[in-house]
Amino acid sequence: MNKYPIGVFISGRGSNLMSIIKASKDKNYPGVIKLVFSDNPCAKGLELAKENNIEYFTLDYNNYENKNIFENEILALIKPYKLELICLAGYMRILTKNFIDSYPDKILNIHPSLLPKYKGLNTHRRAIENKENIAGCTVHYVNQNLDDGKIILQREVKIDYGETEKTLADKVLEAEHDIYPEAIKIALMK
Ligand code: GRF
Repeated sequence: MNKYPIGVFISGRGSNLMSIIKASKDKNYPGVIKLVFSDNPCAKGLELAKENNIEYFTLDYNNYENKNIFENEILALIKPYKLELICLAGYMRILTKNFIDSYPDKILNIHPSLLPKYKGLNTHRRAIENKENIAGCTVHYVNQNLDDGKIILQREVKIDYGETEKTLADKVLEAEHDIYPEAIKIALMK
């Protein structure tokens, strides 16, 4: 089976990266990770790329005069891979319009809330403070607005009595690991 080339962008731990690596090892999975990029040279997730023999590179944003120059270098580096999808997995930098327009309908993101609720940071804390009964996660296409764009998949997670930010984050993360590989499959097969 010919698999579609995927790039994964991370900034930290990389547990979602790992879930995609695992899924892509199935011979019937339609995608394969061709490269991992991190804007953080110390991202733990880079170890996962290394251990799984996936090409990776990092660029330190602090060495660039502005975001356009930084992103143009990323675009040049990833171009030869002819990526069918770029999956943001805990990538903590907002992409410019120029970058997004370079990969139209080919950039996905995972967000730890049931969008459109709780865009941005501290999603679990805000959901608990607002006494929500249900939290969850969302995989969506990336557009120019933060945590916006067409939704591909969502998964609900129940908020239990006495739930803390940490316990909820753990439960939602588990759901993230389920839906991200699935959403990628949907996006690749459409
Ligand atoms: C996840 O909760 C993801 O939804 C958010 O950032 C976190 C990344 O975690 N965008 P990891 O690096 O994949 O473990």
